[in-house]
Amino acid sequence: MKILVTGAAGFVASHVADAYGSAGHDVVIVDDLSRGAEKNVNPKARFYRCDIRDREAIEKIFLLEKPAVVNHHAAQMDVRRGVREPVFDAQVNILGSLNLMEAALAHGTKRFIYIASAGAGYGEPKQTLVPEDYPINPITPYGISKHTVEHYLFTFHFLYRLEYVVLRYGNVYGPRQSSQGEAGVFAIFSEQMLAGIQPVIYGDGSKVRDYVYISDVVAANVAALERGSNEIFNISTCVETTDLEVFQLVRDLLGKQVEPKYVARRPGEIDRICLDISKAARLLGWMPTVSLAEGARRTVNYFREMATATKSASVAG
Ligand SMILES: NC(=O)c1ccc[n+]([C@@H]2O[C@H](COP(=O)([O-])OP(=O)(O)OC[C@H]3O[C@@H](n4cnc5c(N)ncnc54)[C@H](O)[C@@H]3O)[C@@H](O)[C@H]2O)c1
Repeated sequence: MKILVTGAAGFVASHVADAYGSAGHDVVIVDDLSRGAEKNVNPKARFYRCDIRDREAIEKIFLLEKPAVVNHHAAQMDVRRGVREPVFDAQVNILGSLNLMEAALAHGTKRFIYIASAGAGYGEPKQTLVPEDYPINPITPYGISKHTVEHYLFTFHFLYRLEYVVLRYGNVYGPRQSSQGEAGVFAIFSEQMLAGIQPVIYGDGSKVRDYVYISDVVAANVAALERGSNEIFNISTCVETTDLEVFQLVRDLLGKQVEPKYVARRPGEIDRICLDISKAARLLGWMPTVSLAEGARRTVNYFREMATATKSASVAG
């Protein structure tokens, strides 16, 4: 099957593209490299360096490739940039997505897998476990733009029968994550500790997040090729973890003696979120399999190897 994956020079979608390619699918990648890196692009995929806001270029790619499935991960995902530049945020996340959806309709795409954000959509939830039908109350422009596309998908299905699956991720972590990302604390703490920099915790370390390891997220994207049509799914682990717990986990794995520097909390950050993932289990046949301890071990090993490789390269150079 031909699958067009957007954002696959970045963290999550590069792993998704790798998995689709390994499963024998014909993978086409669209990414403007604004944040991703070319080294993450699967070498067997056809790569188009293209901004999803460029309607004409997107139209040409679809005309040429006619993908059966679109898996749309590309996004302006810097929450603070979205606050500063809400128009830019909407142009990439809403209008860019619409360009892809219109091209998909025009060129016979059957299925559109869209990646949304659970953490940015539900706002500050008033209950412990948050299911998919919990009221949407974004507290940032990024939360609004990511969620808005879900409405377009519902409507495009209603009007034109374009099939969709929405995956709302919790906080994804793992190899290739950028320390500049939406939820990159594993990457940030690892890189800083390895560089001898004292990591900063915004607030008192008690903020709770729901982390999911990259290979489990990839498995959800594989399941979404066949199942879950016209449904929305939370994809996470339903395990509450505080910022301080992540800090301590990374510190212990690296064997460092460092304390966090506590600074004032940033606006737009919620206190606590934990996702109800029972719908994905029921309809996608998906369950997370990697524990936080195991995921943290793999992630920290990756960042340790990256730091060693960078050090050897600079010595050799
Ligand atoms: N990482 C998480 O924890 C998390 C949580 C919830 C949702 N998400 C969603 O998952 C998706 C991927 O996130 P990620 O962590 O891999 O981010 P990432 O920044 O590593 O990847 C995003 C990719 O999109 C590309 N891109 C950005 N703007 C583009 C444009 N205008 N045209 C073409 N390509 C463009 C970037 O170059 C980058 O390669 C995003 O849609 C994000 O909203 C991620």
